[in-house]
Amino acid sequence: MSKLIIANWKMNPRTLTEARELAKASDIEGLIICPPFPFLEEVGATIRKAKLGAQDLFWGEGGAYTGEVSADELKDIGVEYVIIGHSERRQNLGETDEMVAKKIAAALKAGLKPILCVGETRAERDAGKTGSVVQRELETGLFLTKNQKSSIVVAYEPIWAIGTGTPDTPESMLEMVEFIKNVLNPQSRALTFSVIYGGSVTSKNAESFFRHKEINGALVGGASLKGEEIKKIVEIGKKYESR
Ligand code: 13P
Repeated sequence: MSKLIIANWKMNPRTLTEARELAKASDIEGLIICPPFPFLEEVGATIRKAKLGAQDLFWGEGGAYTGEVSADELKDIGVEYVIIGHSERRQNLGETDEMVAKKIAAALKAGLKPILCVGETRAERDAGKTGSVVQRELETGLFLTKNQKSSIVVAYEPIWAIGTGTPDTPESMLEMVEFIKNVLNPQSRALTFSVIYGGSVTSKNAESFFRHKEINGALVGGASLKGEEIKKIVEIGKKYESR
């Protein structure tokens, strides 16, 4: 299996023209691009080799949910992946584990591949709570779907490493992969999953993660806003296998 590299553009860039340019510059096999909602269709029409992902969805199938976007609507415009439970939504918008579980269920029902984000704050890490936080986010987030045959991506993104320029270490990530497998494997035989790392990934540090076959890829924020940089990261990923 090759590495899974996911570009989370977050609320960037500012204009459709810039989004189109960035999509052209990032259009490489092996990359999944997750632009803001208003740019999804245009990015989808621009890329030939990369795949399309969204940054969120709502669990309702349609109807009176002002401002929300459904899994089916995303699927209909060519979206294949969807980020769910990003810490920026949990922290700034009050997204709970229960909401995450409903979103995961909606994504799977529509045939979208969910990217479930988990990770602890600096304070939680310092208090020795990393394991309990990640375990809770995994178990509650997958509560509604644990008995159904499904395939997901788990992105471990320690909150203190996001946008700070200080990534977690590959050694600590390897321990986290082991931990996540130990939480998920006994829970459900129906679930298949890969585990990727996110938090200040750049072309300078990507190799230190990708050389380990247990680390299946990366969720990249800031560095995905430069075409050359994200292409480099994907190329580095292609040198290594995943397991
Ligand atoms: P940065 O790569 O900017 O640290 O962001 C990581 C992230 O939150 C991706 O979802």
